[in-house]
Amino acid sequence: MQLSIIVPTFNEAPNIAELVRRVTASVSSLDAEIVFVDDSTDATPGVIREVAKTATMPVRLIHRETREGGLGGAVIEGFVAAEADLCVVIDGDLQHPPEKIIELWERFAQGDVDIVTASRYAGGGTANGLADRTRVLVSKASTAVTKAMFPVKLHDVTDPMTGFFMIDRRSVDSAILKPRGFKILLEILARRNFRVAEIPFDFAGRHAGESKASMRQGLHFLTQLTALRFGKMSLFAVIGALGAVANVAIVWALTGLDVDYIWAAIIAAEATILGNFVLQERFVFHDMRDQASSMWMRFVKSFTFNNAEALIRIPIIALMVESGHFSAVIATAITLVFAFVLRFVFHSLVVYAP
Ligand code: GDD
Ligand code: MN
Repeated sequence: MQLSIIVPTFNEAPNIAELVRRVTASVSSLDAEIVFVDDSTDATPGVIREVAKTATMPVRLIHRETREGGLGGAVIEGFVAAEADLCVVIDGDLQHPPEKIIELWERFAQGDVDIVTASRYAGGGTANGLADRTRVLVSKASTAVTKAMFPVKLHDVTDPMTGFFMIDRRSVDSAILKPRGFKILLEILARRNFRVAEIPFDFAGRHAGESKASMRQGLHFLTQLTALRFGKMSLFAVIGALGAVANVAIVWALTGLDVDYIWAAIIAAEATILGNFVLQERFVFHDMRDQASSMWMRFVKSFTFNNAEALIRIPIIALMVESGHFSAVIATAITLVFAFVLRFVFHSLVVYAP
């Protein structure tokens, strides 16, 4: 088989027949298959099975009940199930013209690139099908921000968020991809230096139904960007900073209630350690929890480390100040930075160790 056409679908019943018809016409010269990776809750899977019976090319259906990883998860699942190594990903609502598949194929066949994307923003492409002005603005702004964050890797990529692209699946390490939501191509591009070529295309209006992109997807995208660019450490730092602010606020509130300063400091420190642990579990190390020790053990390790660290820091600061080389503020700042790095290393390598 020469090409697997991967179509993620979520409630696209009225679009299936037309999509299969146009894809079939586009790739008639190739030995190709269509693989639907479907998370639908409507009649889509039944429609796909019906259409498959009369189709003149192989049409397969993978139906998932879990919707794991959303659109990105579906695409990865398609890569894994594909019959051919060369895969093209295309939306199921005909906003991506199937006639372009053959152009992507021809460009890929030149053999000098790893990925061919269909771009709305390359010369000659358009994004007319974006539903409204806000979507256009959001799309353009997030593309600009994304390109600024990955100036080298995305240098030659005008549309890193397109959902229409061709890749040899062997160059995607699906084990390390943790796709969330819509920006699967960006996840792929961010990990390595790929050679990318682009084919401009007109992003059409939807054939039928409505978009599944949402505010939630937008938020997903933001966390994804931060995580990709700065790794877990930046999320960890953000949570640490939030904790420091909460710490000060609690001390302030408690001393305002006439609680003794030492007690206020201890309560604030322990509350912050607890809060940080919950946030880390949820946002920083969520993908490492399953293979690590039990939550109880993780908590004991994290709690012990943080308390030990807080205790040891005090005499170290005292020693530094006594040495005469540092002021108290500088000494505190230096130990905080060291403590942060150490804490991160300890959590990644010990608390969440497989
Ligand atoms: N399997 C599966 N699971 N498919 C999904 C899911 C999901 O959770 N969510 C959406 N899809 C499918 C849709 O059925 C459709 O075939 C395709 O993914 C794109 O979803 P749309 O709802 O049509 O998204 P869009 O048109 O707003 O977004 C498109 O443009 C974006 C750039 O503006 C997509 O091409 C995105 O990939 C692209 O980033
Ligand atoms: Mn769409």
